[in-house]
Amino acid sequence: MHEELNIILTGVREHCPEISTRAEFESFKATISGPNGSLTKVMKGMGKVAKEDKPAMGKLINDTKAAVITEFDAVLERLERADLASKIGPPIDPTLPVPDCRRGTLHPISQVREEMVDLFRRIGFSVAEATELETEHYCFDALNIPSDHPARDMQDSYYLPDQLTVSNVSKHSDEKYLLRTHTSTVQIRTMLNEKPPIRIVAPGRCFRRDTPDATHSANFHQIEGLYINKGVTILDLKATLDYFVKSIFGPKAKTRLRPSFFPFTEPSFEMDFFSPDLGKLSNKWLEIMGCGMVDPEVFKFVGIDPEVYTGYAFGMGIERIAMILQGVDDIRYYYQNDLRFLKQFA
Ligand code: PHE
Repeated sequence: MHEELNIILTGVREHCPEISTRAEFESFKATISGPNGSLTKVMKGMGKVAKEDKPAMGKLINDTKAAVITEFDAVLERLERADLASKIGPPIDPTLPVPDCRRGTLHPISQVREEMVDLFRRIGFSVAEATELETEHYCFDALNIPSDHPARDMQDSYYLPDQLTVSNVSKHSDEKYLLRTHTSTVQIRTMLNEKPPIRIVAPGRCFRRDTPDATHSANFHQIEGLYINKGVTILDLKATLDYFVKSIFGPKAKTRLRPSFFPFTEPSFEMDFFSPDLGKLSNKWLEIMGCGMVDPEVFKFVGIDPEVYTGYAFGMGIERIAMILQGVDDIRYYYQNDLRFLKQFA
């Protein structure tokens, strides 16, 4: 019996690598472990083995069976891999040159975003990010936005179904998920995670239920800025915005702060700028961002002492800046992916 098992295993080991189809495999397998297979026959012979030899024989048979199964599994795996490879075709060589296709370029919105972020990086801002899906808490409550604020309305924001749970964004209470309506959410998430001094810009997508027209899109992009330290004043805000505007729109550009209102800044401003070098848009005051000093209420929410720290925040639409810089008069061009449009910014 010992000898027989050895012959079977050697035979399996020799023949398996030669099998090249599933049909061949099945018929070979039948000659070993099928009802009349060689291994099956040896197993049936166990009945005639003397009682004292049974444990040793049984072990030998089991070991042989396990070795045979290992061989069979290897064949199946090899056949499956060959099958898959024939379905997906020959492997591609990513190092080959592409003869008839130019290298792509960044989308015009990404180009402007990079330029803006770069200007802020140069004066010590780092980039912060957070999720696009948010809770009402981070989008509104923590930013001191009251429950009757229009942004909270179903008509103005994209809410998600109540029963939904999202594992990486946790709810505080019985509140709703929504797509963030502004990047100010990143202010809160950053202040909760970091200790002052904080100096960040947060570029990202935002969503509002606007009916698309030449200047509105339901999905658009903003850049948020936040600086918190001891002794930060409006003068620091104004100096930073002056630097930004002169860098992006030319050294002759001027800025102006107009009183405004945001629940999370006090005082709040709209910032306008004016430039003699902007073609059709020259010599007009153009509104490009909301800003202000971080409201002490917001500091209380995130556990920063407003008696010790002050800070400023600003937020602006990337599309708005891009349209001015690139002379684009309809925001919808940015989202149509028409190569005739995109190639002008290559
Ligand atoms: N989040 C405001 C908006 O979307 C802009 C803003 C940001 C205003 C920071 C003040 C401070 O309109």
